[in-house]
Amino acid sequence: MKMKIKLDFNNMMTDFIGEYGIAEGDITKIYDKIEAAKKAMVTKRANGKMDWRDLPYNQNEVVEDIIGYVNEIKDDMDAFVVLGIGGSALGPIAVQQAINHPYYNELTKEKRGGYPKLYVADNVDPERLTYLFDTIDITKCLFNCVSKSGSTSETMSQFMIIKEMLEMKLSKEEAAKHIVCTTDRENGNLIKISKEEGYKTFFIPSGVGGRFSELTPVGLLPAAMCGIDIKAMLEGAAFMDELSEEEDIYKNPAYMYAILSYIAMEQGRNISVMMPYADSLKFISDWYAQLWAESLGKKFDTDGKAIFSGQTPVKALGVTDQHSQVQLYTEGPFDKIIVLLGVDKFKETITIPKIYGEIPSLGFLGGITQNQLIKTEQMATEYALLKGGKANMTITLPEVNEFTIGQLLYMFEVATAFAGELMNINAFDQPGVEEGKNATYAMFGRPGYEEKKAELDARPSKIDKFMI
Ligand code: PA5
Repeated sequence: MKMKIKLDFNNMMTDFIGEYGIAEGDITKIYDKIEAAKKAMVTKRANGKMDWRDLPYNQNEVVEDIIGYVNEIKDDMDAFVVLGIGGSALGPIAVQQAINHPYYNELTKEKRGGYPKLYVADNVDPERLTYLFDTIDITKCLFNCVSKSGSTSETMSQFMIIKEMLEMKLSKEEAAKHIVCTTDRENGNLIKISKEEGYKTFFIPSGVGGRFSELTPVGLLPAAMCGIDIKAMLEGAAFMDELSEEEDIYKNPAYMYAILSYIAMEQGRNISVMMPYADSLKFISDWYAQLWAESLGKKFDTDGKAIFSGQTPVKALGVTDQHSQVQLYTEGPFDKIIVLLGVDKFKETITIPKIYGEIPSLGFLGGITQNQLIKTEQMATEYALLKGGKANMTITLPEVNEFTIGQLLYMFEVATAFAGELMNINAFDQPGVEEGKNATYAMFGRPGYEEKKAELDARPSKIDKFMI
């Protein structure tokens, strides 16, 4: 039997948490909206407006190409360095951390199964990039420049720095073997450069946006380069895709997740905390934060009406944040929902020794496992939230593996798209991000951004009194 992740939303409901919960009647009340959203999902998929939904099925050739390339090159490379940001960085980090050893890079190559180390450059920070060069020998690294647009300043600046460094140490031809690009098949600078320089290239399907691209070569190449079974990831996504086709919302975890989140937003709960009870899932929250925030945080609905929508994602970690944020979650305002991510079976088991039996406050720990401790603390937090009347739900992975991670990522993607339909917004654009990108270009005087520069120059000057 296939391993299925499970959504438990009992504690979202009034039956359990009372006044600040959701009644089944609240779901019935928006029946028409739900039906319209379901229809829109079907129509958009059929009309090629949700190409990311085909990814579990249409990539056999791409997957073979990736695996072939990895096998051909992995022995020659000590490290694989992803140059990318946002949708091009968060997925690779989340999947690597979920599936592989937490100290993967510190293991010997043999213990890594012969695969290179993984680094994701992500941010532009002169210190971090400089210090990366202290730890790697660039002539033994493969750099994966990932950019759909091919114009993202952060990624392209890293690429330009690294290209020059490689070409200072190696012949142009040799240097090219250390660069692989993932970008749009036709548009943008990166495909143009790749063709001119002869770089190996993988493609992001044109209809798939950054934050929905983890199951394209954006995520599949770095994963395969670290020995992760990408076929199983896609199988997990396909499994969740079938569940997401279920008409009955009580059998469709992605739709139900979206519906509950939507109703919670309508009730004023504008914060969504994701709290995994497993270090392996810690960075799933980072990936999810982008997906949820960038997709649903919108000024206008699809009719052009200003609605200022969205739910702020907050990242937490169980049990660590029991000693930090949970006090606020249990006793603070009713402005959030809390999503716990749990794991039934960890890859390892550690038993706490039976010592200090004479000290009751320690003795009870003797003989139990850390596995039991983390799970029990998760249940205890769930209880504390319930007692506080705080809306929470739990998603449980039977195990963290490629199949369940594929399911989880895909479930959140469908949930995000479905929430977008319920909210009547475009979940796939990011005009607010573009604004910041364009302002950066204008400040640097990039040709074509003169009007934006004039707009920026006209902004009010800062007042000294307000800077202390
Ligand atoms: O979701 C998105 O579209 C963004 O977060 C992008 O992934 C991010 O801005 C990077 O863009 P690009 O892949 O074009 O470099």
